[in-house]
Amino acid sequence: MTYPKIAVALVCILSAVCVYAGGDPDFVAFPEGYGKSFTNYVTLNRVGKELVAKMYANDVVISSYEAGEKAASGSVLVMEVYKPKKDADGKALVGDDGIYVIDQLAAIAVMERRDNWDVAYPAENRVGNWGFAFYGPDGQPKANELQCVVCHTPLAHQDFMFSNQHLVNHVGSQ
Ligand code: HEC
Repeated sequence: MTYPKIAVALVCILSAVCVYAGGDPDFVAFPEGYGKSFTNYVTLNRVGKELVAKMYANDVVISSYEAGEKAASGSVLVMEVYKPKKDADGKALVGDDGIYVIDQLAAIAVMERRDNWDVAYPAENRVGNWGFAFYGPDGQPKANELQCVVCHTPLAHQDFMFSNQHLVNHVGSQ
């Protein structure tokens, strides 16, 4: 799959408007310092994948959920995606807690909800006022072929989040 990535990179270099297939880093900024200021509400193995996801929510999300409401404008969610350590046979190592042993941060997915998105942000790339962006471990936009809205759209009943119940549980346990 290296060819499409090279193609995306070339489009970025050659055109004034850089197009990232999945997500809109021009509108959904990288949340600098989230590791310190956000709450890590759950860490889990990604469904059907040998990857670990660490989910973080900012204070707007946490206070919305504490109030029993949906995530308000200004909410930001982060999912860090990690590759697991492998044994000599290439098998992913699992810790005592059932979570793969983390090796390397591979990507950082961001969702941000705003009531006042710039009109230039294409509405079809958003759902429920959530915008999406995908970053590398260095915080720079990461080209990808993910259709963010496609997977998250059916989740209207849970605020367009997969890990919604974990967030509810986390807030309830505080
Ligand atoms: C193929 C379906 C799919 C696509 C496409 C997808 N996601 Fe997700 N996303 C998931 C699933 C499933 C989870 C829950 C973690 C898991 O089990 O993998 C998730 C979780 C998340 C989370 C943590 C909050 C939550 O919903 O639990 C963020 C943030 C996120 N995705 C952002 C993105 C961004 C940004 C893109 C596009 C670059 C994207 N997603 C594309 C399926 C998808």
